[in-house]
Amino acid sequence: ESQSASEIVIFGAVGDLSRRKLLPALYQLDLVGLVNKDSRIVGVARQDMSEKDFKAFVEENIRNFVKEAIDDEKLASFLDRVIYQKLDFKETDSYKNLAATLKGGNKTRVYYFSTPPAIYGDIGEGLHQAKLIHAGDRVVMEKPIGHCLESSKVINDHVSKYFKENQIYRIDHYLGKETVLNLLALRFANSLFTTNWDRNCIDHVQITVAESVGIEGRWGFYDEAGQMRDMVQNHLLQVLSLLAMEPPADLSADSIRDEKLKVIKALVPITRQNIHEKTVRGQYSDGFLDGSPVPGYLNEEGANQESTTETFVAIKAEIDNWRWSGVPFYLRTGKRMPAKHSEIVIHFKKQPHNIFKDSYSDLPANKLTIRLQPDEGVELQVMNKIPGLLSQMDVQENALDLSFSETYKDERVADAYERLFLEILNGNQSLFVRRDEVEAAWVWADSIIDAWASTNDKPKPYAAGSWGPVASISLIARDDRQWVE
Ligand code: BG6
Repeated sequence: ESQSASEIVIFGAVGDLSRRKLLPALYQLDLVGLVNKDSRIVGVARQDMSEKDFKAFVEENIRNFVKEAIDDEKLASFLDRVIYQKLDFKETDSYKNLAATLKGGNKTRVYYFSTPPAIYGDIGEGLHQAKLIHAGDRVVMEKPIGHCLESSKVINDHVSKYFKENQIYRIDHYLGKETVLNLLALRFANSLFTTNWDRNCIDHVQITVAESVGIEGRWGFYDEAGQMRDMVQNHLLQVLSLLAMEPPADLSADSIRDEKLKVIKALVPITRQNIHEKTVRGQYSDGFLDGSPVPGYLNEEGANQESTTETFVAIKAEIDNWRWSGVPFYLRTGKRMPAKHSEIVIHFKKQPHNIFKDSYSDLPANKLTIRLQPDEGVELQVMNKIPGLLSQMDVQENALDLSFSETYKDERVADAYERLFLEILNGNQSLFVRRDEVEAAWVWADSIIDAWASTNDKPKPYAAGSWGPVASISLIARDDRQWVE
């Protein structure tokens, strides 16, 4: 299906996300001819800025944040299609200027909200008053949509007054990562996995999303959220739901989203009765990363020393349905961990009987590791006979390792935002989060956050550069299991 020409209107065009991700992603797509040549990029922000200055800003950021060599000619032609519009988000009158800029032609308008979520509704209203919303237009919303179920409803209700659900693209950029998308291929294009993907064959699952970065100059913003709202409510639950969902009938947006929603709804609520058994909150303290000292969370610039916000979460999640009953999904995610390292490890069940006792009194079970980032790949641990005359039947654990960078040497791995922009321009909602999913995810996350609050839970310290508080090791050790490192 060919892509129609669009006006890509970025609200918050001079913000961090726009600089680092959105503008570079649009350049990359344009470079390979995936943006209709008649499309324009309209940067919108509060600042007074000349068009020339905005173009210079776009150019500078593309040169900074695009890793590959820049094609100067293509960049120049991209910049030709960039314009700037000053706008006061809360002034309905101000939208008239935008209307004048967008006048004429019948391009699809893609409104990208990359502003604080509390004003998404105001922007929608401004666009509506200025008659800037037509049937085929789209709106893109960045997370976090709200702070809890109630506040997310307020934002969604407000935006829904002006846009229909099939016009709304809620971003969870993990859904644009190649390795996350590959979960669909891995699960549903391989009968070996499709038939073994349940409580009969799987002992437990671990999902780790570790980052070595700290708060990166956004202490105040982060402190309001914490790791539960910033990462678990969205990215980890999205990964979990793709991993655990029933096979969708096809790849259409609603087939996939219907199945993901069922998983999120089937998550067993965690309450104040079992909060300490099933979750661990942590906060990093002073420590070392790659040999250099790094400050603890409370010693970061701009920190409030009293903060009890968590920068690490570990959870024993359970899914109460036919497929997963009795199979724990251990989740952990944190800032200032030893490395950027995200992976899923599926631990299959052990063999019922061991005839290789000479090698192992306890035969290791098969493990499937899906490396999300970096060093993307899929690895299956299998038992293999050690070759040689001296060994009669000695076995050993070895890996069948599919490394994406080796297998797809000539293929550039696109950033998640490139994929997501492309889907938006093509009008495909599969990789975007439906309202009911966001809300179901909040219901589960809120119950945990509330249980922490009502039990007055304080985050446990962990040294920056470590794998989290000791309690997170106990969380899984209580079940006679351990984290894969
Ligand atoms: C964002 C969070 O959504 O995801 C950040 O707000 C986090 O705190 C980031 O650092 C991680 O994304 P990625 O793609 O680097 O894993």
